Amino acid sequence: MADFLIAPSILSADFARLGEEVEAVLAAGADVVHFDVMDNHFVPNLTIGPMVCKALRDYGITAPIDVHLMVQPVERMIDDFAAAGASIITFHPEGATHIDRCLQQIRDHGCKAGLVFNPATPLHYLDYVMDKVDVILLMSVNPGFGGQSFIPATLDKLKQARQRIDASGYDIKLEIDGGVKTENIAEIAAAGADMFVAGSAIFNQPDYAKVIAEMRAELAQ
Ligand code: DX5
Ligand code: ZN
Repeated sequence: MADFLIAPSILSADFARLGEEVEAVLAAGADVVHFDVMDNHFVPNLTIGPMVCKALRDYGITAPIDVHLMVQPVERMIDDFAAAGASIITFHPEGATHIDRCLQQIRDHGCKAGLVFNPATPLHYLDYVMDKVDVILLMSVNPGFGGQSFIPATLDKLKQARQRIDASGYDIKLEIDGGVKTENIAEIAAAGADMFVAGSAIFNQPDYAKVIAEMRAELAQ
């Protein structure tokens, strides 16, 4: 896998043509499909569930699917998404009663597991589970909607998360989600991120390959 992973969020794709959209963005050079699950309870929006993940697999999508659970409770959705073909499953600690158990539950299915941190959620949830996370996802917007602006305080938080990862010695991806675009991706990478979710910045442009190439050019500097 590449050092830097680009993970387009299908939240901003055309849902009426989802299979084609995912195919197109992968052909355009994306590494991972970011799949936003919202329950109108943990976040004030409602999106897609395991049936849609399975439909993408049945359609022939073989790339990693990165399921970002913005749901409460988390527990039941883990089994359903693992069965639906998820590759990575991340969840917000506030949505889970038993964080350690949920991480283990995800790994027991053979999926990669991750914790997601809202802009104001402290990183201390990681203190006793660094050996059970494959991904740390920092939200750089408040979750629920695409197209919001990157919250600058996240840059300092990324640096703290990067220090934790490097000190741990574990192989953990540092993912960033919200307001990522060509103009700020280099600064975000410099702060320590190596996996970049981008929804509106990619899907709101006519040429996905052009945007992804521009992002990679920024990352190569
Ligand atoms: C927000 C979602 C994001 C969202 C990002 O709750 O988790 O993945 O789609 O969208 P942009 O890149 O437009 O900020
Ligand atoms: Zn997301």
